Amino acid sequence: MTEHEASSLLRAVTASPTQKAGLPRLVLGGSLAGLLLVSLGLILLYVPRPAPFQAREPEQQQQQQQQQQQSPRIHPPAVHPHEKDLLSQIAVDLSPFNDSRISSGISLQQVERVYCNNDQGGFRLQIVDGRMYSVGERHGIQTRVRNTKLIFMHLMHQYKLPDVDISWVSVDDVVMDLKAGRSNDCPEHGPVLVMTKQPHHDHCIMYPDFTFWDWEEAYAVPWQDMPKVMGDAAAREPWKNRKEKLFARAFNLGEARNTLKDNEGELAKHPLMDARIIDWHADPGSFVDLQDHCSNKWLLHTAGNTYSVRLKYLLFCKSAVVLPDSPWQEFFYHMLQAGHNVLRVDALTHENRAMHLPAVADYLREHEEEAEEIGQAGAAFARKHLSSESVALYYKGLIESYAGLMKFKPTVHPDAVPIDKSLLNDFARPFHERTCNVCPRT
Ligand SMILES: *[C@@H]1O[C@H](CO)[C@@H](O)[C@H](O)[C@H]1NC(C)=O
Repeated sequence: MTEHEASSLLRAVTASPTQKAGLPRLVLGGSLAGLLLVSLGLILLYVPRPAPFQAREPEQQQQQQQQQQQSPRIHPPAVHPHEKDLLSQIAVDLSPFNDSRISSGISLQQVERVYCNNDQGGFRLQIVDGRMYSVGERHGIQTRVRNTKLIFMHLMHQYKLPDVDISWVSVDDVVMDLKAGRSNDCPEHGPVLVMTKQPHHDHCIMYPDFTFWDWEEAYAVPWQDMPKVMGDAAAREPWKNRKEKLFARAFNLGEARNTLKDNEGELAKHPLMDARIIDWHADPGSFVDLQDHCSNKWLLHTAGNTYSVRLKYLLFCKSAVVLPDSPWQEFFYHMLQAGHNVLRVDALTHENRAMHLPAVADYLREHEEEAEEIGQAGAAFARKHLSSESVALYYKGLIESYAGLMKFKPTVHPDAVPIDKSLLNDFARPFHERTCNVCPRT
């Protein structure tokens, strides 16, 4: 999308282009006080103050106005798109433990403190002298724990991995109290592997989640087979045959999803919209196979309570994936570039969605070629970076980088169970039975 197109799109739906810079955004966003405050906050933050004693040129003013009108519902493409490095996220996540100005690194005390404080689903993973252990397992949701163990075991067979001692959790809405369990012996909180986080959640290191092994609960085929399954589905639907619909089916889970609730039929009446949320129990008949998503030109992704695993499946379709802003990230989101492999748009809210979504759909229809290119690039990205092989390399890089920051050589913990044994029997143990010899258990 060119700058001009972006601003004309905005103009098409704003009241008047002559309004003061910044104002259209407020008008667009609806009139709810909360949103007004947020927008106002943004304006206050971002409007550069005019130089005190200097009259500004009209062109300059106009330029500024244009720039602010483009703080957009549809994010303009990066000017110089470049292929980033998938693994670069690892260093970002580990940076709180890699500060050269202080004596940094990961200590046994930090790892023990997490172990003796964290009762969320998951386990502590140890690799000692080439053997892998699950330590102090807690039950996780569905098959998350098992599938992640299978990923780790697969890695062990593929690569020579360094010794490591690392806490892993299977919940997506990690609640970490960084102050909990502080003692003289254990003054600092350690790192935790999580499947999703917000940018400010430091101490959280993102890992590719259990669905990169399998997602039985959703009747998905194993991830290893998914690129072919979705690739074939995409190939069966040439672009010109695809429906002109901004399509979404999603469970009624979380704030972002609920913006698709359409009691008044505002969304349904727009001919380019086909977005619905589904009640898991009430209407199981309205499920749509992942492969069948590919018969639409445009696919809307919505986050669930936190993130949603479905984004990666959608990317394989060669449809243009519309990605509303969300603070929740996965390990690969830094690779998703506005206007190149996804169409990034402002976050959905109850106030903006009735205008926002149809405007996005209209835009996509008017920009046929761009939409098709985004679809192609999204699928190319997924094939290259989200394959089982690529995910294994991410894990390998993560474990190696983490090990490189460890200031101790791990020894087998008293609660450790060889990981293959832990798969066969139920070794999950109550939190209070955990052995805590270094840091107090809380
Ligand atoms: C830690 O920081 C140094 C210096 O910035 C960098 O070279 C190194 O790659 C970092 N290590 C990790 C594991 O991120």
